[in-house]
Amino acid sequence: MFGWAFTRGISWLIDRARRINSRLILALDVCRRSGVSPRDVRVAVENLLDGLRDYVVGVKIGLPTILSLGMDSIREILECYRDYYFIADLKIADVGHIVRTLCSYADYMGFDAVIVHAVIGRCGGLDEAVNEVHSRGGAVFSVCAMSHRGAEEVLNRNFSTLVKLSMDAGVDGFILPATMPEYITRARRIIGGSKIILSPGVIAQGASIGSAIKYGADFEIIGRGIYAASNPIEKAREYSQKLKWYSG
Ligand code: XMP
Repeated sequence: MFGWAFTRGISWLIDRARRINSRLILALDVCRRSGVSPRDVRVAVENLLDGLRDYVVGVKIGLPTILSLGMDSIREILECYRDYYFIADLKIADVGHIVRTLCSYADYMGFDAVIVHAVIGRCGGLDEAVNEVHSRGGAVFSVCAMSHRGAEEVLNRNFSTLVKLSMDAGVDGFILPATMPEYITRARRIIGGSKIILSPGVIAQGASIGSAIKYGADFEIIGRGIYAASNPIEKAREYSQKLKWYSG
């Protein structure tokens, strides 16, 4: 039924990062709220994508935007902006058949990669995501730690186990918080250089630009620091200058 997207692997992401010399990924969470219609959201998304292609390597689109616009609208947008690498931030945490269905929806919308919670475990969880997405040519990123305080109650206490089982499942990379860089260092110790680390939490949540890269991340993810700025294009240009792929 579905399946035209998911054709560009991690190597495409890296090639694009080299081409535009940037390690910047945009978190797109613009959404409907009182006085903001789906049409307004779509125009805002398209304006950002029109203006940021020289600075932003990939775009992580979250549930607020996906649910505000709907799958078909997202599919139309992603089809028009194929020069970006697109990551579906579905933060999937469910049983196997639902995991597979959500991954196929990400494929339908045109995404290149999907974010899944490692806490669901391998058997009937991560394995399903990796098999479904890899069979379609896409990539899986797993969440093994988060930055909000409650994450320390359960999720982050199991960090090493979550990283190891994600590796065993064959994920392509990890989402780790820039505000807690010790998790980036610890992950690198376990995974070596073979996997990609994307790090959110920069600017709006307080991590400084470039700090996650210093600790071993490959890309920094910035949302409100760009899309909520009075001049998003100028901000993205400024941040990408500090997040060059080629240092020096
Ligand atoms: P802002 O606007 O704060 O957006 O730049 C950050 C984006 O990243 C996500 N986020 C996280 N995801 N672990 C995650 O897996 C985290 O610790 C974390 N912190 C932020 C958030 O959903 C938003 O899209």
